[in-house]
Amino acid sequence: MILMVQSKSTIAARELLGYKMINNKLLEKVKEKIGDRKGAHDLFHFLRVRGIALKIAESEKADKSIVEAMVLLHDLVRHEGEREDASVEETLKEAEKILKEIGFDSVQVKTILDGIASHSLHSKLHKEPETIEAKILFDADKIDSVGEIGVARWFMTMGNKNISVKEAAQIYLQTIQKQQKKMNGKLYTELGNNLIQEDLVFSVQFLNNLIKKLS
Ligand SMILES: [Fe+2]
Ligand SMILES: [Fe+2]
Repeated sequence: MILMVQSKSTIAARELLGYKMINNKLLEKVKEKIGDRKGAHDLFHFLRVRGIALKIAESEKADKSIVEAMVLLHDLVRHEGEREDASVEETLKEAEKILKEIGFDSVQVKTILDGIASHSLHSKLHKEPETIEAKILFDADKIDSVGEIGVARWFMTMGNKNISVKEAAQIYLQTIQKQQKKMNGKLYTELGNNLIQEDLVFSVQFLNNLIKKLS
Protein backbone atom coordinates (compact mmCIF):
# COMPACT_ATOMS: atom_id res chain seq x y z
CA MET A 1 0.00 0.00 0.00
CA ILE A 2 1.36 3.38 -0.91
CA LEU A 3 0.98 5.99 1.75
CA MET A 4 0.06 9.32 0.27
CA VAL A 5 1.14 12.23 2.39
CA GLN A 6 -0.51 15.46 1.37
CA SER A 7 0.80 18.76 2.55
CA LYS A 8 -1.63 21.31 3.93
CA SER A 9 -1.01 23.53 0.91
CA THR A 10 -1.89 20.68 -1.51
CA ILE A 11 -5.19 20.16 0.30
CA ALA A 12 -5.86 23.91 0.34
CA ALA A 13 -5.10 24.13 -3.39
CA ARG A 14 -7.54 21.30 -4.12
CA GLU A 15 -10.20 22.88 -1.99
CA LEU A 16 -9.65 26.16 -3.82
CA LEU A 17 -9.94 24.40 -7.17
CA GLY A 18 -13.20 22.78 -6.01
CA TYR A 19 -14.62 26.09 -4.84
CA LYS A 20 -13.62 27.84 -8.07
CA MET A 21 -15.29 25.13 -10.16
CA ILE A 22 -18.46 25.30 -8.11
CA ASN A 23 -18.65 29.07 -8.31
CA ASN A 24 -17.94 29.01 -12.06
CA LYS A 25 -20.97 26.75 -12.40
CA LEU A 26 -22.90 29.20 -10.28
CA LEU A 27 -21.86 32.11 -12.50
CA GLU A 28 -23.04 30.18 -15.57
CA LYS A 29 -26.45 29.63 -13.92
CA VAL A 30 -26.68 33.32 -13.05
CA LYS A 31 -25.82 34.34 -16.63
CA GLU A 32 -28.49 31.95 -17.89
CA LYS A 33 -31.07 33.37 -15.51
CA ILE A 34 -30.44 37.08 -16.02
CA GLY A 35 -29.88 36.83 -19.77
CA ASP A 36 -28.91 40.19 -21.26
CA ARG A 37 -30.45 42.21 -18.44
CA LYS A 38 -29.47 45.87 -18.72
CA GLY A 39 -29.50 48.68 -16.22
CA ALA A 40 -28.39 49.01 -12.61
CA HIS A 41 -28.51 45.28 -11.87
CA ASP A 42 -26.82 43.92 -14.96
CA LEU A 43 -24.08 41.27 -14.89
CA PHE A 44 -21.42 43.95 -14.33
CA HIS A 45 -23.03 44.88 -11.01
CA PHE A 46 -22.61 41.26 -9.86
CA LEU A 47 -19.00 41.19 -11.05
CA ARG A 48 -18.06 44.54 -9.48
CA VAL A 49 -19.65 43.58 -6.16
CA ARG A 50 -17.80 40.26 -6.34
CA GLY A 51 -14.47 42.06 -6.80
CA ILE A 52 -15.09 44.38 -3.85
CA ALA A 53 -16.48 41.59 -1.66
CA LEU A 54 -13.54 39.28 -2.25
CA LYS A 55 -11.12 42.08 -1.28
CA ILE A 56 -13.00 42.62 1.97
CA ALA A 57 -13.26 38.83 2.52
CA GLU A 58 -9.48 38.62 2.28
CA SER A 59 -8.95 41.27 4.92
CA GLU A 60 -11.65 39.79 7.18
CA LYS A 61 -10.44 36.20 6.65
CA ALA A 62 -14.02 35.26 5.74
CA ASP A 63 -15.12 32.18 3.78
CA LYS A 64 -14.61 33.37 0.19
CA SER A 65 -16.63 30.55 -1.34
CA ILE A 66 -19.68 31.59 0.68
CA VAL A 67 -19.12 35.30 0.00
CA GLU A 68 -18.83 34.66 -3.73
CA ALA A 69 -21.95 32.49 -3.82
CA MET A 70 -23.95 35.14 -1.93
CA VAL A 71 -22.74 37.89 -4.28
CA LEU A 72 -23.42 35.93 -7.45
CA LEU A 73 -27.00 35.26 -6.38
CA HIS A 74 -27.95 38.37 -4.43
CA ASP A 75 -29.90 40.20 -7.20
CA LEU A 76 -30.89 37.16 -9.23
CA VAL A 77 -34.49 38.29 -9.69
CA ARG A 78 -35.15 42.00 -10.13
CA HIS A 79 -38.44 43.74 -10.55
CA GLU A 80 -37.14 47.25 -11.18
CA GLY A 81 -39.41 49.70 -9.45
CA GLU A 82 -41.54 49.31 -6.42
CA ARG A 83 -41.36 45.59 -5.92
CA GLU A 84 -38.24 45.13 -3.79
CA ASP A 85 -39.99 42.55 -1.55
CA ALA A 86 -40.98 40.43 -4.53
CA SER A 87 -37.44 40.68 -5.93
CA VAL A 88 -35.86 39.41 -2.71
CA GLU A 89 -38.52 36.75 -2.14
CA GLU A 90 -38.18 35.32 -5.65
CA THR A 91 -34.39 35.58 -5.54
CA LEU A 92 -34.36 33.45 -2.39
CA LYS A 93 -36.52 30.78 -4.01
CA GLU A 94 -34.46 30.66 -7.19
CA ALA A 95 -31.16 30.80 -5.31
CA GLU A 96 -32.14 27.87 -3.09
CA LYS A 97 -32.99 25.79 -6.14
CA ILE A 98 -29.67 26.57 -7.85
CA LEU A 99 -27.54 26.04 -4.74
CA LYS A 100 -29.10 22.62 -4.08
CA GLU A 101 -28.72 21.65 -7.73
CA ILE A 102 -25.02 22.51 -7.65
CA GLY A 103 -24.48 20.58 -4.44
CA PHE A 104 -24.14 23.11 -1.60
CA ASP A 105 -25.04 21.45 1.71
CA SER A 106 -28.00 22.56 3.82
CA VAL A 107 -25.90 24.61 6.26
CA GLN A 108 -24.21 26.47 3.41
CA VAL A 109 -27.56 27.04 1.67
CA LYS A 110 -29.04 28.55 4.84
CA THR A 111 -26.02 30.82 5.39
CA ILE A 112 -26.11 32.05 1.78
CA LEU A 113 -29.88 32.65 1.80
CA ASP A 114 -29.68 34.52 5.13
CA GLY A 115 -27.00 36.75 3.64
CA ILE A 116 -29.09 37.50 0.56
CA ALA A 117 -32.14 38.29 2.72
CA SER A 118 -30.17 40.80 4.76
CA HIS A 119 -28.53 42.70 1.89
CA SER A 120 -31.45 44.96 1.00
CA LEU A 121 -32.51 47.67 3.43
CA HIS A 122 -35.61 48.33 1.33
CA SER A 123 -37.19 44.90 1.64
CA LYS A 124 -39.42 43.70 4.46
CA LEU A 125 -37.30 40.55 4.50
CA HIS A 126 -34.31 42.60 5.62
CA LYS A 127 -32.73 41.58 8.88
CA GLU A 128 -29.44 42.42 10.52
CA PRO A 129 -26.67 40.42 8.78
CA GLU A 130 -25.38 37.84 11.25
CA THR A 131 -22.35 36.27 9.61
CA ILE A 132 -19.22 38.10 8.48
CA GLU A 133 -19.97 36.85 4.94
CA ALA A 134 -23.42 38.52 5.01
CA LYS A 135 -21.87 41.74 6.33
CA ILE A 136 -19.39 41.68 3.46
CA LEU A 137 -22.13 41.27 0.85
CA PHE A 138 -24.01 44.18 2.42
CA ASP A 139 -20.95 46.44 2.41
CA ALA A 140 -19.81 45.57 -1.11
CA ASP A 141 -23.31 46.09 -2.51
CA LYS A 142 -23.56 49.52 -0.86
CA ILE A 143 -20.15 50.55 -2.19
CA ASP A 144 -21.42 49.89 -5.73
CA SER A 145 -24.35 52.22 -5.08
CA VAL A 146 -22.28 55.38 -4.58
CA GLY A 147 -19.56 57.23 -6.47
CA GLU A 148 -19.59 57.70 -10.23
CA ILE A 149 -20.92 54.18 -10.78
CA GLY A 150 -23.61 54.48 -8.13
CA VAL A 151 -24.81 57.81 -9.53
CA ALA A 152 -25.01 56.40 -13.07
CA ARG A 153 -26.89 53.31 -11.83
CA TRP A 154 -29.34 55.44 -9.82
CA PHE A 155 -30.29 57.78 -12.65
CA MET A 156 -30.70 54.84 -14.99
CA THR A 157 -33.17 53.24 -12.58
CA MET A 158 -35.04 56.49 -11.99
CA GLY A 159 -35.21 57.17 -15.74
CA ASN A 160 -36.89 53.78 -16.20
CA LYS A 161 -39.46 54.84 -13.63
CA ASN A 162 -40.09 58.11 -15.48
CA ILE A 163 -38.83 60.25 -12.59
CA SER A 164 -37.33 63.67 -13.34
CA VAL A 165 -33.60 64.31 -12.87
CA LYS A 166 -34.20 66.77 -10.04
CA GLU A 167 -36.59 64.51 -8.18
CA ALA A 168 -34.25 61.56 -8.69
CA ALA A 169 -31.39 63.58 -7.20
CA GLN A 170 -33.49 64.52 -4.18
CA ILE A 171 -34.64 60.94 -3.59
CA TYR A 172 -31.07 59.67 -3.92
CA LEU A 173 -29.80 62.20 -1.38
CA GLN A 174 -32.59 61.28 1.04
CA THR A 175 -31.88 57.57 0.53
CA ILE A 176 -28.20 58.06 1.32
CA GLN A 177 -29.04 60.10 4.43
CA LYS A 178 -31.62 57.54 5.63
CA GLN A 179 -29.16 54.73 5.08
CA GLN A 180 -26.41 56.64 6.90
CA LYS A 181 -28.73 57.22 9.84
CA LYS A 182 -29.82 53.60 9.98
CA MET A 183 -26.22 52.40 9.83
CA ASN A 184 -24.97 55.09 12.21
CA GLY A 185 -22.80 56.41 9.40
CA LYS A 186 -20.92 53.13 9.11
CA LEU A 187 -20.74 49.92 7.14
CA TYR A 188 -19.97 46.66 8.95
CA THR A 189 -16.35 46.09 7.94
CA GLU A 190 -13.27 48.24 8.35
CA LEU A 191 -12.16 47.94 4.72
CA GLY A 192 -15.74 48.54 3.56
CA ASN A 193 -15.80 51.79 5.52
CA ASN A 194 -12.49 52.87 4.03
CA LEU A 195 -13.53 51.98 0.50
CA ILE A 196 -16.87 53.81 0.59
CA GLN A 197 -15.71 57.14 2.04
CA GLU A 198 -14.44 58.89 -1.07
CA ASP A 199 -17.37 57.73 -3.20
CA LEU A 200 -19.86 58.79 -0.57
CA VAL A 201 -18.40 62.29 -0.37
CA PHE A 202 -18.44 62.47 -4.19
CA SER A 203 -22.12 61.41 -4.38
CA VAL A 204 -23.37 63.87 -1.75
CA GLN A 205 -21.40 66.74 -3.27
CA PHE A 206 -22.51 65.89 -6.80
CA LEU A 207 -26.17 65.61 -5.80
CA ASN A 208 -26.16 68.88 -3.86
CA ASN A 209 -24.55 70.69 -6.81
CA LEU A 210 -26.99 69.12 -9.24
CA ILE A 211 -30.03 70.07 -7.15
CA LYS A 212 -28.68 73.64 -6.86
CA LYS A 213 -28.20 73.90 -10.62
CA LEU A 214 -31.69 72.56 -11.29
CA SER A 215 -33.38 74.92 -8.80
FE1 LIG B 1 -30.23 44.01 -4.19
FE1 LIG C 1 -26.92 44.48 -5.60
